[in-house]
Amino acid sequence: MVKLSGNNKINLAIFISGRGTNLKSIFNFSKKKNSILNIKLVISDNKFAKGLEFSKKKKIDYKFVKFNKKKIAEYKILKLIESKQIDLICLAGFMKILSGNFIKKSKLKILNIHPSLLPKYKGLNTHIRAIKNKEKFSGCTVHFVNKKLDSGKIILQKKVKINKNETVNSLEKKVLMIENKIYPLAIMKVVKSNF
Ligand code: GRF
Repeated sequence: MVKLSGNNKINLAIFISGRGTNLKSIFNFSKKKNSILNIKLVISDNKFAKGLEFSKKKKIDYKFVKFNKKKIAEYKILKLIESKQIDLICLAGFMKILSGNFIKKSKLKILNIHPSLLPKYKGLNTHIRAIKNKEKFSGCTVHFVNKKLDSGKIILQKKVKINKNETVNSLEKKVLMIENKIYPLAIMKVVKSNF
């Protein structure tokens, strides 16, 4: 169970690097009536991430953190997380690998979304690998972040069918649609349970 903050909401920090469709879906979910989720902070390692424009538009606090020196970047983020009283971290298309030290020091649960049916296809270019291997299904997974890439405990998964004439583009679109659906649900699963 994730504890409620002073404002009776779960304060989320969302880490992004680009487009931000998952950020948007979590934001929309958090704006539903009686929602206990509140996006308190968006962190991006990319100054030009589209998700930062969205954050600005929606008046969410956001911060670009340069990652050329990872230790310094992570130290800055830890300070921000503490000062903003963040309860839960969600990686949503964040392209940097967080160190074991960061994971430990944050003392928070960290979630990530990955565009494959983990444990299959960890890492990058999941769709092309799934198509080349003639998989019948692909999908997405929300999991906890630990020291090993895409290897933490699975929280929620959803499958999609890979059609005969499937392309990387069409599969990416299909998977992204279900990613946007399940990420808020996975967050709620963690918030409500003792996961
Ligand atoms: C998603 O496919 C996610 O699974 C992967 O990066 C992509 C991010 O998309 N980790 P978006 O920025 O949330 O639109």
